[in-house]
Amino acid sequence: MTLRIVSMPGAEACAERIADRLGASRCALESRRFPDGEIYLRVLDEVQGQQVVVVAQLSNPDPQLPGLLFLADALNELGAASVGLVAPYLPYMRQDIRFRAGEAVTSRSFAKLVSTAFAWLVTVDPHLHRLASLNTIYRIPTAVVSSAPAIAAWVHTQVEQPHLVGPDEESRQWVSEVAALAGCPYTVLSKHRSGDRSVDLTLPDLQALRGHTPVLVDDIISSGQTMAATVGRLRAQGFAAPICVGVHAVFAGDALARLQAAGAARIVSCNTLPHPSNAIDMTDALAESVQAVMQRVSHSH
Ligand code: R5P
Repeated sequence: MTLRIVSMPGAEACAERIADRLGASRCALESRRFPDGEIYLRVLDEVQGQQVVVVAQLSNPDPQLPGLLFLADALNELGAASVGLVAPYLPYMRQDIRFRAGEAVTSRSFAKLVSTAFAWLVTVDPHLHRLASLNTIYRIPTAVVSSAPAIAAWVHTQVEQPHLVGPDEESRQWVSEVAALAGCPYTVLSKHRSGDRSVDLTLPDLQALRGHTPVLVDDIISSGQTMAATVGRLRAQGFAAPICVGVHAVFAGDALARLQAAGAARIVSCNTLPHPSNAIDMTDALAESVQAVMQRVSHSH
């Protein structure tokens, strides 16, 4: 059965790389906005009876979600045998419980919508904090690619005397795995978030960092506040300028400039979202995961 890769607007480079690795053909999509902002989509290649993979970059999910759901619906209506989703960055993972009465638990709502539209989902390191796995909210087969091996390889080859630093307890899962693979020490700080753009850090004894290059590792750099505050505190204590590694380079607004201004020596990210900081390639791992999940789904039928 033919495998076709369709790119949502903004994910063309990632789709091209995955298609290349899988030896799959691209499926062209025409997309534009009507004057009132509604999306127009047209699938330009035959998808009848074919396995279709939609690749989407969802760093700004509110305007992107309707188009994604409409495209999946159109592909199904056009007779695709299956329609899977590769979203290297999975949004809406942080509002995973009702913190205050009446709040929408958007992780769950987002998962419900995606689960109705797609046959399976592949992503990279979703923000699983209070949720044990994606299966608790997604009703479709899911596969999670770990960025830790690629980040560890980058740290190992690019940084002398690294000492990894996780800015908060949530980052421990990524930092500890990267540290084990890169064979270097790590320390996890404690963070209290008092607002969308305001965080306070508590630092443990950091003497072990002396003589090392601090490498901050976190899953998402969004407002950049977590990383900037960590960089600022480490610099204030006289440590070397830290290297910041984020899995998902969301960089909302002026986050990149503010992180640079805080004194980061270098800012790098995985290419789960296109960004100038991309230095760590996730394509091979994503392509392998797509193959694995498709095999899993076909065996279960
Ligand atoms: C926290 O829950 C995440 O692991 C990141 O630390 C957080 O999303 C970073 O957000 P920001 O860049 O806005 O501080």
